[in-house]
Amino acid sequence: MLGAVPTATAVLAQDAKPELANKLDPNAKDLDEKVLKAATAVKDEDGKYLDKDGHPTFHITNDGKKVDWYTYSGYRRYHAECHVCHGPDGMGSTYAPALKDSLKILSYEEFYGILAGGKQDVSNTANQVMPAFGDNKNVMCYANDLYVYLRARASGAWGRARPGEKEEKPEAAKTAEKECLGG
Ligand code: HEC
Repeated sequence: MLGAVPTATAVLAQDAKPELANKLDPNAKDLDEKVLKAATAVKDEDGKYLDKDGHPTFHITNDGKKVDWYTYSGYRRYHAECHVCHGPDGMGSTYAPALKDSLKILSYEEFYGILAGGKQDVSNTANQVMPAFGDNKNVMCYANDLYVYLRARASGAWGRARPGEKEEKPEAAKTAEKECLGG
């Protein structure tokens, strides 16, 4: 089933690699140190970066100008599937919350669960609904990409910009995409 939360395998602290540290824009504003710290990559699996809990995360280098493949892909998917309601760059709208703030609080599992299952606040009188995307391959096949991009936005590591420079599309991403879309 597409909506099942993938299991994460914790990465051992001794496997942490300091060379995976982000190299952010030295003038970056709005950095959230707590989110940034939790999102630090400690493992690189063929261009897919993982934090110490084994959750996907971003990798931003070249003084904040270059992003990993998944952040780039997440940016594109977000602006195809989510921005109509959640606003450009995760900034929110009168209809739906700013995901750059939501991702400061939501865990990976919570994010995945809401994406697959939808959400409607019972106290929400305006009848605004987060649709369930569990059966939508154009969203669920890119759930990690969306998470990684929005996490970069929540931490302040990536600002309100379209990524330019990016890491190559990893072989693993090509294989996973083919399997997910075709299966
Ligand atoms: C049709 C409009 C619509 C679209 C499209 C949409 N959302 Fe939502 N989303 C909402 C609304 C409205 C809420 C608030 C629901 C509530 O709390 O009652 C929401 C809530 C959420 C939340 C929970 C936020 C929080 O702070 O609790 C997440 C995460 C989320 N959306 C992710 C996404 C992603 C990722 C996409 C694109 C794949 C997306 N949404 C597309 C309308 C939408």
